[in-house]
Amino acid sequence: MCSVVGYVGKNLSRAFVIEGLTRLEYRGYDSAGFACIHSADNSIMYTKSQGGISNLLRNFETFPIDGYVGMGHTRWSTHGAASVENAHPHFDCNKKISIVHNGIIENFHELKKMLQKQGHQFKSQTDTETVAHLFESLLKEHKNLKSAVLALVNLLEGAYAFTLMLADYPSLLVVVRKRSPVCIGKGEDEMFIASDLLAFAGKTNKVLFLPDECYAFVTRNSVELNDFNGVSLPVYFQVITVPWTADLKGGHEHFMLKEIYEQKKVIQDTVHNNKADENYLWKKLGLTRLQVQDLQVLKIVGCGTSWHAARVAQFFFESIANVRTEVFLASELRYQPFFKETNSVAVAISQSGETADTLEAIRFLRQHGMHTLAVVNVVSSTMVRETQGYLPIYAGPEVSVASTKAFSAQVAALYWLAHKIAFEKELITERALNAAENELLVVAEILESTIEKYKNDIIKKHAERYAQAPYIIFLGRHVSYPFALEAALKLKELSYIFAEGFPAAELKHGPLALVDTNVPVIIFSVLDPVLYPKLVANAQEVKARGAHLVAFAFEGQQELIQLADVVFTIPHVNPLLGPLAMTGLMQFFVYEISRFLGRPIDKPRNLAKSVTVE
Ligand code: M6R
Repeated sequence: MCSVVGYVGKNLSRAFVIEGLTRLEYRGYDSAGFACIHSADNSIMYTKSQGGISNLLRNFETFPIDGYVGMGHTRWSTHGAASVENAHPHFDCNKKISIVHNGIIENFHELKKMLQKQGHQFKSQTDTETVAHLFESLLKEHKNLKSAVLALVNLLEGAYAFTLMLADYPSLLVVVRKRSPVCIGKGEDEMFIASDLLAFAGKTNKVLFLPDECYAFVTRNSVELNDFNGVSLPVYFQVITVPWTADLKGGHEHFMLKEIYEQKKVIQDTVHNNKADENYLWKKLGLTRLQVQDLQVLKIVGCGTSWHAARVAQFFFESIANVRTEVFLASELRYQPFFKETNSVAVAISQSGETADTLEAIRFLRQHGMHTLAVVNVVSSTMVRETQGYLPIYAGPEVSVASTKAFSAQVAALYWLAHKIAFEKELITERALNAAENELLVVAEILESTIEKYKNDIIKKHAERYAQAPYIIFLGRHVSYPFALEAALKLKELSYIFAEGFPAAELKHGPLALVDTNVPVIIFSVLDPVLYPKLVANAQEVKARGAHLVAFAFEGQQELIQLADVVFTIPHVNPLLGPLAMTGLMQFFVYEISRFLGRPIDKPRNLAKSVTVE
């Protein structure tokens, strides 16, 4: 989840590297660093700092290094604290080999011990530094760059993408990839290297996504590509245009707030754009109409918020399209027994399309012979390249680490897809399909209007109160239970207040012991005639223990409204879309609590937007 950015070319590298790192800072912001080749003596110059790019920029005021070959890094710490000594670049003993790295070297302990015995001096706690020292030994032994790189990759275990800068080979960078993403952009007499092509969007549209288990020697006008067996591979640059406009907060205090308010449009775009493309839907998903008609089982994988969207969507696929749906946490799936089922399809849900756990899960499912699809926001992502079909969600760039508009776009896209499958299976009429699209558009309006209705109350009356809570409990039932999980995740991530989501009826099986007069309990209602009275009974159990009850209720649900200490009422929608209608208000509620606490809303501590390590 670190980012790697490099440059070899006709221009000085620093400006590009810093801009690229800034664009990719969503991948980590624990520390930053820059290294370049000194044009006078080919030595490697470098500087690094704790924290984000802004701190690194201050270093340049007193140490304005630059060179025609340069590379940089922002870090999301895995091995060792977020300190300057652990910041990349790292070096060998003689500072002739420098590395910036994204990923994890799983066997670094053994390698480090072996290298220390040989006399190598380590300066950091990182796994990355091991690679520099190991390469120092191998280069001495092999006396040939290519065979040293080959020996190196055969000794490293894990998932990684790194760039090596070598004082003895001052006109090139070595780029190595195993499972973690990295790409090379070709300009006029210049090459760009980056973990994500967003870093060089607008500078070139010629892109080489380094194939898995490959390494490349990159000079200003050539790329020599080899696989991990040393076999030379042809180099093809694809033409991919990724529009880049600097993300602006549009007058909002935080990206998160801007993104909360973009949700109405995002849902509209998701419906309209997918509808406009609907004749190609099955082709885009790599499925035949017959396969869709026979579809019996969906296995969905995702992490965090995307997993919650999948849990909500499970109700769509099962009740609308009559497709049994299993939802797995991507990080757990690979370690469970796999049961092959006929007429089944695997779906990965991901905003970024780069989440390592989700990628590994989908690779696992593919190895087991499943047809794999991705429902993603970033269509230039690894997940789209590695699956057999994809459905875009049209949320646009999501900058804030906390996922907001991607969640609502995922839920909307999956609701739409469930109806398309149902239509293909002849379970619903075209009229019902059109009605479903309309329902989404109505919900999009409600999502925004409920924020407007309650925002002043939340800011003035509630944020301060809930910010003092020791912890907060969220409750839901049926489709609102995964939504309670999502609310709890948002609150933990942004406010650092502990929160948990429970199915409301489960409280009495244990968690009710947590409830007392200091604990706010927030309940998300449902529009199901059978479940609603049961949910009210659960709310009564909580009130009887003296809890402060906050209800997100639907209009007219008087029993719940009268029971609660604080009520937000939501207009009636299709019962399955209740969570989507509540999404904006729930996010705004969490946003204001976190803002009151002075948290760094867009970049919560210890996190990164794109989680590219397992
Ligand atoms: O990019 P992805 O959707 O695959 O990311 C999955 C999670 O890391 C992500 O949803 C995370 O849980 C969010 N930061 C939560 O707000």
